[in-house]
Amino acid sequence: MAPRHFLDLDRFETEALRHVLDMGRGFKKGEANGSRPLAGKMLAMLFDKPSTRTRVSFEVGMKQLGGDVVTLSSRDTQLGRGETVADTARVLSRYVDAIMIRTTSRRNLEEMAQYATVPVINGLTDDSHPCQLMADVMTFEEHRGPIAGKVIAWSGDGNNVAASWVHAAVKFGFELRLACPPELMPPKDLLEWARNQGGKVTLTHEPLDAVAGADCVVTDAWLSMGDEQKGEVNRHNLLAPYRVDERLMAAAKPDAIFMHCLPAHRGEEVTGAVIDGPRSVVWDEAENRLHVQKGILAWCLG
Ligand code: CP
Repeated sequence: MAPRHFLDLDRFETEALRHVLDMGRGFKKGEANGSRPLAGKMLAMLFDKPSTRTRVSFEVGMKQLGGDVVTLSSRDTQLGRGETVADTARVLSRYVDAIMIRTTSRRNLEEMAQYATVPVINGLTDDSHPCQLMADVMTFEEHRGPIAGKVIAWSGDGNNVAASWVHAAVKFGFELRLACPPELMPPKDLLEWARNQGGKVTLTHEPLDAVAGADCVVTDAWLSMGDEQKGEVNRHNLLAPYRVDERLMAAAKPDAIFMHCLPAHRGEEVTGAVIDGPRSVVWDEAENRLHVQKGILAWCLG
């Protein structure tokens, strides 16, 4: 039987994503407390890039479900010395029951999934961050009810997290308004995919237009991991008008919430008054990575 990979939201039927969310909510409520559905299972976690939330939430989640993890950075493995991803996938599949990979290149993720005989989970690439979006949808719905038909406004870099918001908008049926600088727009083929799917995804360069009447305002760091070489000063100049501050939040609905996948940089993409203010749900978002990823692990491992 083909392994159940969790690679990107656009590859799923909405029903399957809803099922994973339901499991995540169940785990959060403690419905499976005491049972160890993943007893004896081992997850390998491969990191090309740093992580706090992804690393700790997957490790804690796996252990709470009765399983265990082995964590490797590219410095620890022969990947860092030229062994292919395909060979690494074949070998790891003989030792572990699932692989979670955070990597710079989408090609590495695809190659891992192609050659692994166990489920592969996308823990972030330069192109997407699907586990984050599952936590974000869960968090929005905890605070504001069903996300279908709601308006989400993104203000900032059209990066990997923004791309997964586009996937989520199509799969969960909400309106997504992206405000990005012309130089940092999401990929054209992604937006074309959303249009072809009938998604309600719009683009603007004006943050105030995007957030007008929105139910939720979202942003992310100006320098995503791997962007350090792309010119810090230039990116700061481009993104400064997209900073989420109280003036921008005031243009959203009075009960609009603020989301950010973290890590945050106060005074850059968001002010301290917003991220530490009453409309921010960022700590729930971070917590929900744990619960929803337990749902993802349970789905992948049957
Ligand atoms: N949001 C997120 O993925 O956090 P980490 O980079 O700390 O894993």
